[in-house]
Amino acid sequence: MTTIAVEAHDLVKTYGDAWGRRPMQALAGVSLRVERGTIFGLLGQNGAGKSTLVKILLGLVRPSGGSARVLDHDPNHSRTRRRIGYLPEQMQLPDYLRAEGFLRYMGELNGVESRTLTKRIPELLELVGLGGVRKLIRAYSRGMQQRLGLAQALVNNPELLFLDEPTEALDPLGRKQVRDLLVRLRAQGKTIFVNSHMLSEIELVCDHVLILHRGAVARAGTPADFTQPTGEYRLRLAALTDAVRAATEAVVGPARWNGTTGLIRPRDRAQLNALIDRLRALPVEIEAIEPVRSTLEEFFIDVVVGSES
Ligand SMILES: Nc1ncnc2c1ncn2[C@@H]1O[C@H](COP(=O)(O)OP(=O)(O)OP(=O)(O)O)[C@@H](O)[C@H]1O
Ligand SMILES: [Mg+2]
Repeated sequence: MTTIAVEAHDLVKTYGDAWGRRPMQALAGVSLRVERGTIFGLLGQNGAGKSTLVKILLGLVRPSGGSARVLDHDPNHSRTRRRIGYLPEQMQLPDYLRAEGFLRYMGELNGVESRTLTKRIPELLELVGLGGVRKLIRAYSRGMQQRLGLAQALVNNPELLFLDEPTEALDPLGRKQVRDLLVRLRAQGKTIFVNSHMLSEIELVCDHVLILHRGAVARAGTPADFTQPTGEYRLRLAALTDAVRAATEAVVGPARWNGTTGLIRPRDRAQLNALIDRLRALPVEIEAIEPVRSTLEEFFIDVVVGSES
């Protein structure tokens, strides 16, 4: 057993050419590597190729080129499947079942013993916030369906989880619960591969992030790699007067003010401290000074817009 859970080399996928349709290249040579016990975030716009990539790794779509290894096997290896959990995007659930019946069915398909299921199913339902829900799946809200989809992905206690947009339909509390759950699963040593176009989600829990753009790797790294200090500071004051504006500008140059908050760009820390001394001498009360970091979202938009210009 290696420490790598998922590895892809130069994956290419072209759809449509077999049916005489105009070929559509969904993946244009993607390589990646996911360490065991980590959360890997795959980011990209609609149509970037995220779901295609996941389906190849699951053996559901055959690549046109390149190769992949999942838990040290070919993605088509049948016994590997039982060690994997998968939440598809927009999963269709059977209307006529209840959560319990559905999870039992999925568990049996995955070869989980009946006794294990009897114990595990209530735990899973509790875990995803569906404990005590008795109604038919037909009567579920979108968010409840998504929660059940997540429980389904965990029914075989998988080593490796593929989650395609797991928080799409969830409210803010539900998103936080899913994030916490992912962190807990990672602590148990599981590997999680999560597709998302919701950047804030990814930023918070992923160990590695890959930005896919038009089927190719635009960037890969840790969230911290993408969220560097910008050199700007946010300065929050108790009050903004003409004297404060003038003093600020005299020390650090022009600032952009929004209410009593200013964005400044000091040359160095000494200059920033000189500004603090100057403002305190006025006097004006400083509520906060903090470095501004670029967000993953800004970075992502740069990648996407940058490639268009
Ligand atoms: N079965 C298919 N046949 C033909 N084209 C397809 C098929 N599946 C996906 N595509 C095309 O491949 C490209 C990538 O699609 P994919 O579903 O992988 O994107 P995605 O990144 O998951 O997007 P989203 O964020 O909208 O889920 C798109 O242009 C899509 O239209
Ligand atoms: Mg998708």
